[in-house]
Amino acid sequence: MAKTRAATVEIANDEAPTISNQEEEILTGLRQANKWISPKYFYDQRGSELFDQITELPEYYPTRTELGIMRACGKEIGELVGPEASVIEFGAGSNVKIRLLLDALERCAVYVPVDISGEYLAYMAEALAADYPNLEVLPVLADFTQAFELPNPKIMPRKNLVFFPGSTIGNFAPPEALALLRVMHYEAKPGGALLIGVDLKKDRRILEAAYNDSQGVTAEFNLNVLQRLNDELKADFDIDQFSHRAIYNEAIGAIEMHLVSKRPQTVTLGGEKIHFAAGEYITTEYSYKYALEDFDALAHLAGFTRQQVWTDAEQLFSVQLFQVPDTPQT
Ligand code: AVJ
Repeated sequence: MAKTRAATVEIANDEAPTISNQEEEILTGLRQANKWISPKYFYDQRGSELFDQITELPEYYPTRTELGIMRACGKEIGELVGPEASVIEFGAGSNVKIRLLLDALERCAVYVPVDISGEYLAYMAEALAADYPNLEVLPVLADFTQAFELPNPKIMPRKNLVFFPGSTIGNFAPPEALALLRVMHYEAKPGGALLIGVDLKKDRRILEAAYNDSQGVTAEFNLNVLQRLNDELKADFDIDQFSHRAIYNEAIGAIEMHLVSKRPQTVTLGGEKIHFAAGEYITTEYSYKYALEDFDALAHLAGFTRQQVWTDAEQLFSVQLFQVPDTPQT
């Protein structure tokens, strides 16, 4: 009899955090001299659709380059990681990347997607369990920036492999990226590993084109956050009076996304008035880029040892494999 997978994808608490719970956090950011909204608010349904479109844009090289690298190095990843690993994905991300990894690994023991959105997590876990009937799928609803408890799999894995593709690490400033790498190090456990996608430093023209695409999809993606504040927090942003801008800040090695006020204006949110001078802007995202040696140094600080790096021929993007030493370092 076919065994139903439903039980394996059950999630205890599927209360997705909505933007309305976050009004205070958003207001705090908008009260600052340098106005700020976290990029985590991009991803409502419309935002996620727009992001999917971004990944297909000719200028947006990261997604297709990472996929190309993973396709090319899958066999090697499988050999280096070895059989019966447990894959712990930080963020239940792209359907395509996890499948490439699972297909590369020999008898993956269990897949543990960790995400803050219960609804998305359940959806991804169901889809994967249906396609990989022999794989145990144990989703964890958690904020992965804090240590979380791993579920107990039926088959004892030989090692934990933390998977963090997409250069999502780039959204964290280096101190936060280090803190996150330490959580990954903790979850991978001694003898475990980390497979991470990291976007690389390069000519600013390539970087800026990737975040200022000619079809204006990234602009729409950026401006959508204001629409969300209007819809969900009853703010009154006049969206036409803001424009999208993305610039490479070479001093910090990051793309910065801004929403620039076209004129002096006042917006009301949560009963509070927020003033904008002409040209004043809200920073909505940092996307840090790394030189290979800089990322190695950061991972080393978190306790990792680099095992292998793969890049594309143009060195646009990298997929990096790190190990946690067998005996914990003190
Ligand atoms: C999902 C954070 C990797 O920084 O390239 C794409 C988000 N923002 N275009 C990135 C993004 C604008 C993306 N990450």
